Amino acid sequence: MAGHRMKAKEVFLRRGNLSCIIPWGALQRVGRIRDKKIKDREIDMKQTTIDGITLSLAGSVELPLKWVGQDELLRQLLAAWMVIDERDIPFNPRLVGKPGVGKTTLAYAAAISLGRPVFLYQATMDTRPEDLIISPVIGPDGKIQYSASSLVSAMLSGGVLILDEGNRMSEKAWASLAPLLDDRRYVESIVTGLRIPAQQDFRIVVTMNEDASTFELPEYIHSRLQPQIYIDFPEADEELQILKENLPFSDGEILSYVVTFLQRSHRADELYSVRDGINIARYALKMAAAGSQPATDLLKLSVQRILGDEALPYLG
Ligand SMILES: Nc1ncnc2c1ncn2[C@@H]1O[C@H](COP(=O)(O)OP(=O)(O)OP(=O)(O)O)[C@@H](O)[C@H]1O
Ligand SMILES: [Mg+2]
Repeated sequence: MAGHRMKAKEVFLRRGNLSCIIPWGALQRVGRIRDKKIKDREIDMKQTTIDGITLSLAGSVELPLKWVGQDELLRQLLAAWMVIDERDIPFNPRLVGKPGVGKTTLAYAAAISLGRPVFLYQATMDTRPEDLIISPVIGPDGKIQYSASSLVSAMLSGGVLILDEGNRMSEKAWASLAPLLDDRRYVESIVTGLRIPAQQDFRIVVTMNEDASTFELPEYIHSRLQPQIYIDFPEADEELQILKENLPFSDGEILSYVVTFLQRSHRADELYSVRDGINIARYALKMAAAGSQPATDLLKLSVQRILGDEALPYLG
């Protein structure tokens, strides 16, 4: 795997005795730059050596995701990550909401706006503490090599980690992150015996599905994952914008039908989400392209096949 180079950007503000380190992306939005000095740092992402132990680092991700509407949520997440004084530390925010409301998309959009490498860790109920930190692997020469998880790779390269679906992980896995999530900001690897501190620029966000908790998280973890940012279903106009963003090749008529369907189902407290709406429209468009009927005539069939008969009443 070829190594690649990343740039991390920060803005240092100084007024009197006060100095703050603020993410560049956030400042651009807030627009309050008075005196700025941009520091560029180049990091070799492939391998790093700590106390004589060489770790291979995971690659960062680049996803074609763009957050549409609900700007306030993006602002709240970026505010949680800000460091407003040299004695300050960033929060470890938690994004909570029903399945498919955009938690991962929001986390990614906020992370990428910081201009730092973004890493993703998909948590599952089988995630073990060492999976989150450092795993031993057999190298091509038959010797043991150490592979840093995407979490540790983000810590070492001053990147952002999205810990996706965090509530699927067991308490044992969470316990290994406890020192990282308070003001100690380090993890310990049992496999290598290393204590690994997070770079100052490291940020983490955890997404959690409101309705699919596999494990009940203990209070000491909940209290470390603050603030909690709740994502609700969007209003009709924003939902239409989101559908347009995800299906730019669709005509507006079918998307309007889908938004009406989604809004009715939100009012009835159903769990149908934007993701379902995108799938319904996409499938109707594909069937239309494959046959001779217009997509709007195929919506009913699409809803039936994607969500089942019980969703049909919301189509009106
Ligand atoms: N505000 C938004 N802007 C752009 N796309 C969005 C938005 N909200 C939802 N989407 C789209 O809806 C789909 C679902 O979003 P996403 O995967 O982020 O949801 P999620 O809450 O993480 O779902 P899950 O709980 O299943 O992990 C994606 O295709 C995403 O692009
Ligand atoms: Mg998700």
